[in-house]
Amino acid sequence: MLLALTGAGISAESGVPTFRGADGLWRQFRVEDLATPGAFARDPATVWEWYRWRRDQLARALPNPGHECLARLERRRGGFSLVTQNVDGLHRRAGSTVVRELHGNIWRTVCSRRCGTVIDESPWADPPGAPAGRPDSLPACACGALLRPDVVWFGETLDQRVLGAAIDEAESADVVLVVGTSGLVYPAAALPGVARRAGATVIEINVEATPLSGEADIVLRGPASVVLPALEARR
Ligand code: OAD
Repeated sequence: MLLALTGAGISAESGVPTFRGADGLWRQFRVEDLATPGAFARDPATVWEWYRWRRDQLARALPNPGHECLARLERRRGGFSLVTQNVDGLHRRAGSTVVRELHGNIWRTVCSRRCGTVIDESPWADPPGAPAGRPDSLPACACGALLRPDVVWFGETLDQRVLGAAIDEAESADVVLVVGTSGLVYPAAALPGVARRAGATVIEINVEATPLSGEADIVLRGPASVVLPALEARR
């Protein structure tokens, strides 16, 4: 089984800023103000403004050859799975149909009280979801609570079903492609180690060294949109 674990680097060449690079989002913005449950409780308007700004950026971004390569791998071979930390939806737009989104999806809006309301607001949703409130308003759920983006904030736990499936896939993988992640955010960053201890070959694809490089059996330095198609061509 081939497992791909992706991070923000795979979307960098689609024009989506990463989090910790030179122009990274967490260099310009404070996590504590925007991506924690406390921030949303204190100032939901600012949090929504930031997520709407990111949605606007992402609506203009297109999948790149790295995303497209992983979508082809899913179509062409059995025994492929894709786990991503990205919330941008670009893997699905590239044609991947089974994507384990560890950190949620920025285009989904959910009830902050978790009453069960989920709205897909992606511009390409079919059928298009009802937009959760006007850009200048705070969207509210029918149950009375505020709606929020369906992303995992710092201090929150991941969806245990999604994480459990990702761990199972890491344990049964023969090869893991670790693509464009700094390897700093857990539990996602533990998956390559889980796979390696279970006998998988770990291949890191990244433009820079990361804390995961030392655990990798093979390190391929370069942009994901170039390295992934080149690797595919050699198979
Ligand atoms: P980071 O911004 O921490 O790391 C991006 C990685 O991509 C770095 O190691 C870069 O060297 C690499 N990179 C940049 N451009 C690349 C390219 N063209 N090809 C290949 N690699 C490239 O992003 P993540 O590791 O995804 O959490 O961050 C993990 C989590 O931290 C994110 O999911 C997000 C953030 O806070 C949530 O949203 C919950």
